[in-house]
Amino acid sequence: MTGQREFTRGLGVPPMDERDEGRTTRDAASVALRPTPPTLIDLQRRLAQSQRLAALGALVARLAHELGTPLHSIAGHVDLVLEDERLPEDARRRIDIIGGEVRRLSRLIRRYLEKLRTPAPAPAPTDVPGLVREVVGLLEPVIAGRGVDLTLDFEAGSERPIPCDREQVEQVVVNLVQNAIDAMPEGGDLAVRVGVAGRGLVISVCDSGHGIAPDIREHVFEPFFSTKEGGRGSGLGLAICREIARAHGGDVLLDSKAGMGTVVTLIIQPRDPVDSQS
Ligand SMILES: Nc1ncnc2c1ncn2[C@@H]1O[C@H](COP(=O)(O)OP(=O)(O)O)[C@@H](O)[C@H]1O
Ligand SMILES: [Mg+2]
Repeated sequence: MTGQREFTRGLGVPPMDERDEGRTTRDAASVALRPTPPTLIDLQRRLAQSQRLAALGALVARLAHELGTPLHSIAGHVDLVLEDERLPEDARRRIDIIGGEVRRLSRLIRRYLEKLRTPAPAPAPTDVPGLVREVVGLLEPVIAGRGVDLTLDFEAGSERPIPCDREQVEQVVVNLVQNAIDAMPEGGDLAVRVGVAGRGLVISVCDSGHGIAPDIREHVFEPFFSTKEGGRGSGLGLAICREIARAHGGDVLLDSKAGMGTVVTLIIQPRDPVDSQS
């Protein structure tokens, strides 16, 4: 275990590069009040819901791709036929209808694709260490039940409210902590850290679990990729986390050594300087 502990300890919060991309979030001036904090059931229900939506989104995207090519080809042939001046009027009218229907199908597919996207974040100034404490607190019975030792570590200044979509960030933290727990069936160490990075924050989830083998490392962010057996994994967790992180001007980074542990880091990097200390 010593090597594993050293590995997770040695991997600190990665350096942040200052980025200019992000969200316009000056509108909300105070930390959002939340009269009723979510329960673990609420979080899990939301997670399942967004995973179902993401699964649908990925299927529709695949379907759109498969249908798009032949539809494009049909539209091209329709245009060619219509260019023929010898075409009888009746045939021209019918082929015109075919062309119109093909274009309608293309528009329909595009509209479905747009509907299934993860909603754009609704940012409000948020105390991220508070959020992490709350979410990890809800998962604590699961963590303790697995014989996992938990450490929380919040860098000074990280409690300064930063603009982000609270529900979406909660969702990422649940996902990452759940992955960490799943990687330690025999127990181990789990550390969740929040660090300051320029105008933004980083949340890192470090575990001393089985790690990620180099040959699967490049696939873990792909939708539907999962090594969890018996339908325990949807393979959508990391894909959704990355989508949410990028919508927050950040990203999800991964550092893992097979047999030693994994550090997954969520970067939140708002575009505007924080002006919400009230
Ligand atoms: N902390 C971790 N330690 C080891 N492997 C991980 C960790 N996080 C993710 N993985 C690997 O990445 C895969 C994809 O993760 P994810 O997208 O969350 O889907 P799921 O958890 O449903 O399998 C997992 O099945 C697992 O193989
Ligand atoms: Mg997962």
